[in-house]
Amino acid sequence: MALVNIDDFRDLARRRRPKIFFDYIDGGSFEEETMRANRSDFSRLTLRQNVLVEPQPQDLATAYLGKRHPLPFMLGPVGFLGLYSGKGEVKAVRAAHAAGIPFCLSTFSIASLADLRIVTDGPLHFQLYVLEDRSLCEEFLRAAEYAGVDTLFVTVDTAITGIRERDVRNGFRSLTRVTPDLFARLALKPRWLAEVVLAGMPSVRAVEHRPEFGRGALEQAANLSRRIDKTLSWKDIAWLRERWAGKLVIKGVLTPADAVRARDLGCDGVVVSNHGGRQLDGAPSTIRALPSIRATVGTDFCLMLDGGIRRGADVIKAIALGADGVMLGRAYAYGLSAAGQAGVAEVIAILEREISISLALMGIASVEQLKALGAEAVSTL
Ligand SMILES: Cc1cc2nc3c(=O)[nH]c(=O)nc-3n(C[C@H](O)[C@H](O)[C@H](O)COP(=O)(O)O)c2cc1C
Repeated sequence: MALVNIDDFRDLARRRRPKIFFDYIDGGSFEEETMRANRSDFSRLTLRQNVLVEPQPQDLATAYLGKRHPLPFMLGPVGFLGLYSGKGEVKAVRAAHAAGIPFCLSTFSIASLADLRIVTDGPLHFQLYVLEDRSLCEEFLRAAEYAGVDTLFVTVDTAITGIRERDVRNGFRSLTRVTPDLFARLALKPRWLAEVVLAGMPSVRAVEHRPEFGRGALEQAANLSRRIDKTLSWKDIAWLRERWAGKLVIKGVLTPADAVRARDLGCDGVVVSNHGGRQLDGAPSTIRALPSIRATVGTDFCLMLDGGIRRGADVIKAIALGADGVMLGRAYAYGLSAAGQAGVAEVIAILEREISISLALMGIASVEQLKALGAEAVSTL
């Protein structure tokens, strides 16, 4: 079967991966309304088609997070990549860096930053969940510094985890070890099982040396989740700002006031994000939240956006409405689950192709030109 778009990779991921992991990637919280709105609100926007424009050489490069990148999107933090495909984080970072785009490693990863540094010297970012145990946080920061991490993304919308009903039904996160029942379910996908086991029994490398987190990825992840600081506040962001000399970006902002607060505390940007509709169900889609945030913070503050990006046109709409760059979540997790590193590479290539063709049909030569046009390039249905 030809894999033509991101949805094709999603279908293949569903067929190739155990249901417990596919549902974890694919699902959202409660009624999954916000998750659906992330997609359907893109459909409410139309692209302006300008014809008979003198052709100019196309350029998809643009600046975000203080640097110029060949494409207007990067790979955002997605937990447990190494469970969807053996050495999943290594495969994802390799695919990202082959395309010249940054990769952000999640706190909840099978591979560590040091593991990634062995295979690449490209741009690495790290996503931090602030834990109650600040000494462990400081340890994560030191590891990030040592690995040459450029930007720290602090995720602030998960102090409490939203109920993801598919996960509750499958026992994801409540299971702390592989029970006979879970093993029977995993064994339904023997090729996946062999691949992941051959890569070494999965554990969360960043806390492997800490016996209080237990053994194996499931138990370590459950313990990590439990220790995320539920009292996180702006005071803690000020604390982090003092300790982290690199760029600091707050992930999970949906209002102009919160973006201004982040900027005033010396942060370098925010990610307009509702965690892919996995946290506060009923929160607005990110594309709906973006314009008023851009209007309030002005042009100089870096705004990234994620949520529901499945098409090149989605990237174009986000950039037109004020995002400096866009971050992928499920799109590349489907690619990885379906076809490993080649799958991530193909997801990146598909989006690049779609952006390139759509911009050409819009009569726009470059992402910079799109940024200059801004909201003029789109209208609302
Ligand atoms: C399976 C999965 C795991 C995720 N893990 C993390 C994580 O560890 N840290 C984080 O900040 N965000 C995490 N996210 C959220 C993504 O970074 C991003 O906000 C979201 O996926 C964007 O929506 P999209 O998947 O519809 O593109 C995760 C998302 C998914 C789908």
